[in-house]
Amino acid sequence: MFEIVKKELLASNIYLMDIMAPRVARTAFPGQFVIVRVHEKGERIPLTICDYNHCKGTVTIVIQVVGVSSRLIANLNEGDLLLDFVGPLGQPSEFGHEPIELLKKKKILFIAGGLGTAPVYPQVAWLSSVGVKADVIIGAKNKELLILEDEMRVVAGNVYITTDDGSYGNKGLVTDMLKDLINNQGKHYDEVVAIGPMIMMKFVALTTKPYGIKTIVSLNTLMVDGTGMCGACRVTVGGKTRFTCVDGPEFDGHLIDFDEALRRQSMYRNHEYESNCKCFVRLSDK
Ligand code: NAD
Ligand code: FES
Repeated sequence: MFEIVKKELLASNIYLMDIMAPRVARTAFPGQFVIVRVHEKGERIPLTICDYNHCKGTVTIVIQVVGVSSRLIANLNEGDLLLDFVGPLGQPSEFGHEPIELLKKKKILFIAGGLGTAPVYPQVAWLSSVGVKADVIIGAKNKELLILEDEMRVVAGNVYITTDDGSYGNKGLVTDMLKDLINNQGKHYDEVVAIGPMIMMKFVALTTKPYGIKTIVSLNTLMVDGTGMCGACRVTVGGKTRFTCVDGPEFDGHLIDFDEALRRQSMYRNHEYESNCKCFVRLSDK
């Protein structure tokens, strides 16, 4: 069992939790994820690691209430236990294998969309720890939904904020900011790393392609076993079938069949809607 040692409300319906999981914390690296199960009959929920502390033995996750399972986790409090906390799963971010001297010569831009800001943070923080300051665009629907801005400013080079409604930072989408940086502000980037909703990653990849900027995205596909056995997380990358859980979650954004990935991601939307309705009925029955 894995204890929740800290719970913090980051924004409306978005919670940060530190989980006591020393074995996971010891080997975790940015880019990897965990699969969480609250109880025996619970759904397996893949969550990208937001931070980890080797000394304390904790792993930080950020969870947004969007369905039954995420609500189940969000309703837990400090001192409560999770049944399973499996990880670290997936491949660490590619830059972890690159020589530091090479990384220091690169101009890297991270694009963090909404909840995707959580998995971007450990990557930018790790780069900062080896002397590489990456730029970051953080996009959110509005000011209230923006998370980890202060934390990101500590570890990043320049931080650019966009909100869809213009309530904070620049008004528009992250792709508008990206185009503005390249076309109007004379910025040059060797690499873009985009993490957020699938549709955002698709359009970031489409935006960078004409400029020939290498673009890495972190896919949040459906997952069941997380070990490459069930095929639930299947995606097509460069015409080949890959499994997000073992080959990813990070892939070359210019090679992904995003339309297929978006179709597969929406396969269980009706199912989730029905579960949500049942859950609300049960709650209102009480
Ligand atoms: P959101 O819908 O608020 O979008 C965040 C930002 O993405 C927007 O502010 C906008 O700037 C940009 N964006 C959205 N659609 C775009 C488009 N068509 N073109 C260009 N830019 C666009 O984000 P949210 O509500 O926090 O997203 C939640 C989703 O993110 C969930 O589906 C969740 O599964 C996913 N997610 C993914 C990861 C990952 O590892 N890839 C991690 C956490 C969450
Ligand atoms: Fe089953 Fe990846 S989650 S193969």
